[in-house]
Amino acid sequence: MLPEVIATRYVTPLREGGSLPGIVEADDLGTYVVKFTGAGQGRKTLVAEVICGELARRLGLRVPDLVAVELDPVIGLGEPDQEVQELLKASGGLNLGMDYLPGAIGFDPLAYEVAPDEAGRIVWFDALVNNVDRSWRNPNMLVWHGEPWLIDHGATMIWHHNWPTAAGAVLKPYDASDHVLAPVGPAIAPAASALAPLVTRELLEEVTALVPDVWLTEEPGFASPDELRQTYADALLARSGNVHERIVLGPPSADGPSRAPGWLTGRPQGQEVR
Ligand SMILES: Nc1ncnc2c1ncn2[C@@H]1O[C@H](COP(=O)(O)OP(=O)(O)OP(=O)(O)O)[C@@H](O)[C@H]1O
Ligand SMILES: [Mg+2]
Repeated sequence: MLPEVIATRYVTPLREGGSLPGIVEADDLGTYVVKFTGAGQGRKTLVAEVICGELARRLGLRVPDLVAVELDPVIGLGEPDQEVQELLKASGGLNLGMDYLPGAIGFDPLAYEVAPDEAGRIVWFDALVNNVDRSWRNPNMLVWHGEPWLIDHGATMIWHHNWPTAAGAVLKPYDASDHVLAPVGPAIAPAASALAPLVTRELLEEVTALVPDVWLTEEPGFASPDELRQTYADALLARSGNVHERIVLGPPSADGPSRAPGWLTGRPQGQEVR
Protein backbone atom coordinates (compact mmCIF):
# COMPACT_ATOMS: atom_id res chain seq x y z
CA MET A 1 0.00 0.00 0.00
CA LEU A 2 1.01 3.62 -0.42
CA PRO A 3 2.64 5.26 2.60
CA GLU A 4 -0.11 6.53 4.90
CA VAL A 5 -0.30 9.93 6.61
CA ILE A 6 -2.99 11.59 8.73
CA ALA A 7 -4.49 14.94 7.72
CA THR A 8 -4.01 17.59 10.39
CA ARG A 9 -5.27 20.75 8.64
CA TYR A 10 -7.25 21.66 5.55
CA VAL A 11 -5.48 24.72 4.13
CA THR A 12 -7.30 25.82 0.98
CA PRO A 13 -9.20 24.50 -2.03
CA LEU A 14 -7.57 24.49 -5.49
CA ARG A 15 -10.36 26.03 -7.48
CA GLU A 16 -8.80 25.37 -10.89
CA GLY A 17 -9.18 21.59 -10.41
CA GLY A 18 -12.50 20.17 -11.58
CA SER A 19 -12.72 17.77 -8.63
CA LEU A 20 -12.07 20.50 -6.04
CA PRO A 21 -8.74 19.14 -4.79
CA GLY A 22 -7.42 20.85 -1.68
CA ILE A 23 -4.12 21.61 -0.03
CA VAL A 24 -3.82 19.66 3.20
CA GLU A 25 -1.15 19.42 5.90
CA ALA A 26 -0.39 16.06 7.45
CA ASP A 27 1.16 14.56 10.57
CA ASP A 28 4.47 13.92 8.76
CA LEU A 29 4.77 17.74 8.38
CA GLY A 30 4.20 17.29 4.64
CA THR A 31 1.90 19.44 2.50
CA TYR A 32 -0.21 17.60 -0.06
CA VAL A 33 -2.63 18.25 -2.87
CA VAL A 34 -5.47 15.93 -1.87
CA LYS A 35 -8.10 14.40 -4.15
CA PHE A 36 -11.09 13.33 -2.10
CA THR A 37 -13.03 10.07 -2.25
CA GLY A 38 -16.24 12.05 -1.76
CA ALA A 39 -15.77 14.02 -5.01
CA GLY A 40 -18.24 13.42 -7.83
CA GLN A 41 -15.55 11.76 -10.00
CA GLY A 42 -15.54 8.78 -7.63
CA ARG A 43 -12.87 6.51 -6.27
CA LYS A 44 -11.89 5.05 -9.67
CA THR A 45 -10.12 8.27 -10.55
CA LEU A 46 -8.03 7.78 -7.40
CA VAL A 47 -7.23 4.19 -8.41
CA ALA A 48 -6.10 5.54 -11.79
CA GLU A 49 -3.94 8.20 -10.11
CA VAL A 50 -2.12 5.55 -8.09
CA ILE A 51 -1.62 2.92 -10.80
CA CYS A 52 -0.65 5.34 -13.56
CA GLY A 53 1.29 7.82 -11.42
CA GLU A 54 3.39 5.07 -9.88
CA LEU A 55 3.85 3.35 -13.25
CA ALA A 56 5.07 6.63 -14.80
CA ARG A 57 7.51 7.10 -11.94
CA ARG A 58 8.94 3.61 -12.48
CA LEU A 59 9.36 4.39 -16.17
CA GLY A 60 11.60 7.30 -15.20
CA LEU A 61 9.08 10.13 -15.60
CA ARG A 62 8.78 12.80 -12.92
CA VAL A 63 5.67 12.44 -10.73
CA PRO A 64 5.29 14.02 -7.26
CA ASP A 65 5.27 11.45 -4.41
CA LEU A 66 1.87 9.89 -3.67
CA VAL A 67 0.49 9.01 -0.24
CA ALA A 68 -2.79 7.78 1.23
CA VAL A 69 -4.25 10.51 3.47
CA GLU A 70 -6.42 9.40 6.39
CA LEU A 71 -9.05 12.07 6.95
CA ASP A 72 -11.29 12.62 9.95
CA PRO A 73 -14.32 14.52 8.57
CA VAL A 74 -14.27 16.60 11.77
CA ILE A 75 -11.53 18.62 10.04
CA GLY A 76 -14.16 20.11 7.75
CA LEU A 77 -16.52 21.35 10.46
CA GLY A 78 -14.95 24.79 10.66
CA GLU A 79 -14.78 25.31 6.90
CA PRO A 80 -16.75 28.41 5.89
CA ASP A 81 -17.34 27.16 2.33
CA GLN A 82 -20.38 24.88 2.18
CA GLU A 83 -19.06 22.94 -0.85
CA VAL A 84 -15.74 22.21 0.87
CA GLN A 85 -17.51 21.24 4.08
CA GLU A 86 -19.76 18.77 2.22
CA LEU A 87 -16.79 17.29 0.37
CA LEU A 88 -14.77 16.72 3.56
CA LYS A 89 -17.83 15.29 5.31
CA ALA A 90 -18.20 12.74 2.50
CA SER A 91 -14.50 11.83 2.48
CA GLY A 92 -13.81 10.16 5.82
CA GLY A 93 -11.11 7.45 5.60
CA LEU A 94 -8.41 7.23 2.94
CA ASN A 95 -7.94 9.88 0.25
CA LEU A 96 -5.17 10.45 -2.26
CA GLY A 97 -2.37 12.90 -1.51
CA MET A 98 0.24 14.17 -3.94
CA ASP A 99 3.31 15.98 -2.66
CA TYR A 100 2.70 19.71 -3.12
CA LEU A 101 5.38 21.28 -5.32
CA PRO A 102 5.75 24.82 -4.00
CA GLY A 103 6.31 27.43 -6.67
CA ALA A 104 5.54 25.05 -9.56
CA ILE A 105 3.93 26.70 -12.55
CA GLY A 106 1.57 25.29 -15.15
CA PHE A 107 3.37 23.89 -18.20
CA ASP A 108 3.23 26.17 -21.23
CA PRO A 109 4.57 24.63 -24.46
CA LEU A 110 5.40 28.08 -25.84
CA ALA A 111 7.55 29.00 -22.88
CA TYR A 112 9.20 25.68 -22.10
CA GLU A 113 10.95 23.31 -24.49
CA VAL A 114 10.79 19.54 -24.09
CA ALA A 115 13.25 17.46 -26.16
CA PRO A 116 11.71 14.98 -28.66
CA ASP A 117 13.11 12.02 -26.66
CA GLU A 118 11.44 13.02 -23.42
CA ALA A 119 8.26 14.03 -25.26
CA GLY A 120 8.25 10.58 -26.88
CA ARG A 121 8.43 8.86 -23.51
CA ILE A 122 5.57 10.95 -22.11
CA VAL A 123 3.35 10.43 -25.19
CA TRP A 124 4.11 6.67 -25.22
CA PHE A 125 3.17 6.41 -21.54
CA ASP A 126 -0.03 8.44 -22.08
CA ALA A 127 -0.93 6.13 -24.98
CA LEU A 128 -0.35 3.04 -22.82
CA VAL A 129 -2.77 4.25 -20.14
CA ASN A 130 -5.10 6.05 -22.60
CA ASN A 131 -4.68 9.41 -20.90
CA VAL A 132 -7.26 11.77 -22.40
CA ASP A 133 -6.13 14.65 -20.19
CA ARG A 134 -2.76 15.91 -21.46
CA SER A 135 -3.92 18.16 -24.28
CA TRP A 136 -2.85 21.73 -24.98
CA ARG A 137 -6.17 22.76 -23.44
CA ASN A 138 -5.34 21.08 -20.14
CA PRO A 139 -1.71 19.89 -20.06
CA ASN A 140 -1.71 18.52 -16.49
CA MET A 141 2.01 19.10 -16.34
CA LEU A 142 3.87 21.46 -14.05
CA VAL A 143 7.32 22.98 -14.36
CA TRP A 144 9.22 22.83 -11.10
CA HIS A 145 12.89 23.67 -10.63
CA GLY A 146 13.20 23.90 -14.39
CA GLU A 147 11.85 20.41 -15.13
CA PRO A 148 8.48 19.07 -16.29
CA TRP A 149 6.44 17.05 -13.78
CA LEU A 150 3.37 14.96 -14.60
CA ILE A 151 0.22 15.35 -12.49
CA ASP A 152 -3.41 14.31 -12.68
CA HIS A 153 -3.74 10.76 -13.98
CA GLY A 154 -7.41 10.51 -12.98
CA ALA A 155 -8.66 10.42 -16.58
CA THR A 156 -6.72 7.34 -17.67
CA MET A 157 -7.74 3.71 -18.28
CA ILE A 158 -11.25 4.89 -19.07
CA TRP A 159 -12.17 1.28 -19.81
CA HIS A 160 -12.30 0.63 -16.06
CA HIS A 161 -15.61 2.47 -16.00
CA ASN A 162 -17.03 -0.32 -18.19
CA TRP A 163 -15.08 -3.54 -17.65
CA PRO A 164 -16.53 -5.52 -20.58
CA THR A 165 -14.80 -3.01 -22.92
CA ALA A 166 -11.36 -3.46 -21.30
CA ALA A 167 -10.26 -6.36 -23.50
CA GLY A 168 -11.11 -4.44 -26.69
CA ALA A 169 -9.32 -1.33 -25.44
CA VAL A 170 -6.00 -3.11 -25.89
CA LEU A 171 -6.29 -2.55 -29.64
CA LYS A 172 -7.66 0.99 -29.54
CA PRO A 173 -5.68 3.75 -31.25
CA TYR A 174 -4.47 6.69 -29.18
CA ASP A 175 -5.07 9.98 -30.88
CA ALA A 176 -2.22 12.23 -29.73
CA SER A 177 -2.95 15.01 -32.26
CA ASP A 178 -4.04 17.40 -29.50
CA HIS A 179 -1.43 16.20 -27.00
CA VAL A 180 0.40 19.16 -25.46
CA LEU A 181 3.72 17.69 -26.66
CA ALA A 182 2.60 16.80 -30.20
CA PRO A 183 4.19 19.96 -31.71
CA VAL A 184 7.61 18.94 -30.35
CA GLY A 185 7.76 15.92 -32.69
CA PRO A 186 7.81 13.19 -30.01
CA ALA A 187 10.29 10.39 -30.75
CA ILE A 188 7.91 7.46 -30.27
CA ALA A 189 9.96 4.51 -31.59
CA PRO A 190 12.96 4.95 -29.27
CA ALA A 191 10.58 5.53 -26.35
CA ALA A 192 8.75 2.28 -27.12
CA SER A 193 12.03 0.32 -27.36
CA ALA A 194 13.21 1.72 -24.04
CA LEU A 195 9.99 1.59 -22.04
CA ALA A 196 7.91 -1.37 -23.26
CA PRO A 197 10.39 -3.98 -21.92
CA LEU A 198 10.17 -2.34 -18.47
CA VAL A 199 6.41 -2.90 -18.26
CA THR A 200 6.54 -6.44 -16.86
CA ARG A 201 3.94 -8.37 -14.88
CA GLU A 202 6.11 -7.95 -11.77
CA LEU A 203 6.19 -4.17 -12.20
CA LEU A 204 2.42 -4.01 -12.72
CA GLU A 205 1.84 -6.19 -9.66
CA GLU A 206 4.03 -3.81 -7.69
CA VAL A 207 2.09 -0.70 -8.71
CA THR A 208 -1.39 -2.24 -8.40
CA ALA A 209 -0.45 -3.46 -4.90
CA LEU A 210 -0.05 0.20 -3.88
CA VAL A 211 -3.80 0.88 -4.30
CA PRO A 212 -5.60 0.74 -0.94
CA ASP A 213 -8.00 -2.25 -0.70
CA VAL A 214 -10.90 0.03 0.27
CA TRP A 215 -10.90 1.57 -3.24
CA LEU A 216 -11.13 -1.86 -4.86
CA THR A 217 -13.89 -3.54 -2.86
CA GLU A 218 -17.41 -4.33 -4.04
CA GLU A 219 -16.64 -3.91 -7.72
CA PRO A 220 -19.38 -5.81 -9.57
CA GLY A 221 -18.00 -8.93 -11.25
CA PHE A 222 -14.87 -9.14 -9.07
CA ALA A 223 -14.58 -11.41 -6.05
CA SER A 224 -11.72 -9.55 -4.37
CA PRO A 225 -9.46 -6.51 -4.61
CA ASP A 226 -6.63 -8.78 -5.78
CA GLU A 227 -8.70 -10.10 -8.67
CA LEU A 228 -9.34 -6.52 -9.73
CA ARG A 229 -5.61 -5.65 -9.41
CA GLN A 230 -4.83 -8.61 -11.64
CA THR A 231 -7.28 -7.37 -14.28
CA TYR A 232 -5.66 -3.90 -14.35
CA ALA A 233 -2.24 -5.54 -14.71
CA ASP A 234 -3.45 -7.85 -17.51
CA ALA A 235 -4.94 -4.96 -19.49
CA LEU A 236 -1.82 -2.77 -19.27
CA LEU A 237 0.52 -5.66 -20.00
CA ALA A 238 -1.45 -6.64 -23.09
CA ARG A 239 -1.33 -3.07 -24.44
CA SER A 240 2.34 -2.35 -23.71
CA GLY A 241 3.81 -4.57 -26.45
CA ASN A 242 2.56 -2.73 -29.50
CA VAL A 243 0.84 0.45 -28.35
CA HIS A 244 3.41 2.52 -30.28
CA GLU A 245 1.81 1.27 -33.52
CA ARG A 246 -1.50 2.75 -32.43
CA ILE A 247 -0.37 6.30 -31.70
CA VAL A 248 -1.95 8.75 -34.14
CA LEU A 249 -0.15 12.09 -34.54
CA GLY A 250 -2.27 14.07 -37.00
CA PRO A 251 -2.83 17.81 -37.31
CA PRO A 252 -4.34 19.40 -34.18
CA SER A 253 -8.06 20.11 -34.08
CA ALA A 254 -9.22 23.27 -35.89
CA ASP A 255 -9.30 25.35 -32.71
CA GLY A 256 -5.76 24.19 -31.80
CA PRO A 257 -3.11 26.31 -30.14
CA SER A 258 -2.04 29.40 -32.02
CA ARG A 259 1.43 29.60 -33.49
CA ALA A 260 4.03 31.33 -31.39
CA PRO A 261 5.93 33.98 -33.30
CA GLY A 262 9.60 33.30 -34.04
CA TRP A 263 10.69 36.25 -31.90
CA LEU A 264 9.22 34.48 -28.88
CA THR A 265 10.60 31.00 -29.49
CA GLY A 266 13.90 32.02 -31.07
CA ARG A 267 13.18 29.63 -33.97
CA PRO A 268 13.62 30.63 -37.60
CA GLN A 269 10.55 31.72 -39.53
CA GLY A 270 8.51 28.71 -40.67
CA GLN A 271 9.54 26.47 -37.75
CA GLU A 272 7.32 28.05 -35.15
CA VAL A 273 5.86 25.97 -32.37
CA ARG A 274 2.25 25.14 -33.10
N1 LIG B 1 1.58 18.42 -6.74
C1 LIG B 1 1.16 19.65 -7.02
N2 LIG B 1 1.91 20.72 -6.66
C2 LIG B 1 1.49 21.99 -6.93
N3 LIG B 1 0.32 22.28 -7.55
C3 LIG B 1 -0.46 21.25 -7.94
C4 LIG B 1 -0.07 19.89 -7.70
N4 LIG B 1 -1.06 19.08 -8.17
C5 LIG B 1 -2.00 19.90 -8.68
N5 LIG B 1 -1.65 21.19 -8.55
C6 LIG B 1 -2.44 22.37 -9.00
O1 LIG B 1 -3.81 22.05 -8.85
C7 LIG B 1 -4.48 22.07 -10.11
C8 LIG B 1 -5.52 20.97 -10.15
O2 LIG B 1 -4.90 19.72 -10.02
P1 LIG B 1 -5.40 18.49 -10.90
O3 LIG B 1 -5.29 18.80 -12.33
O4 LIG B 1 -4.64 17.29 -10.42
O5 LIG B 1 -6.92 18.42 -10.42
P2 LIG B 1 -8.25 17.96 -11.16
O6 LIG B 1 -9.37 18.20 -10.26
O7 LIG B 1 -8.06 16.57 -11.65
O8 LIG B 1 -8.30 18.93 -12.35
P3 LIG B 1 -8.93 18.86 -13.79
O9 LIG B 1 -9.76 17.63 -13.88
O10 LIG B 1 -9.66 20.14 -13.88
O11 LIG B 1 -7.71 18.79 -14.68
C9 LIG B 1 -3.37 21.92 -11.14
O12 LIG B 1 -3.70 22.51 -12.36
C10 LIG B 1 -2.22 22.64 -10.48
O13 LIG B 1 -2.31 24.04 -10.67
MG1 LIG C 1 -6.01 18.60 -14.00
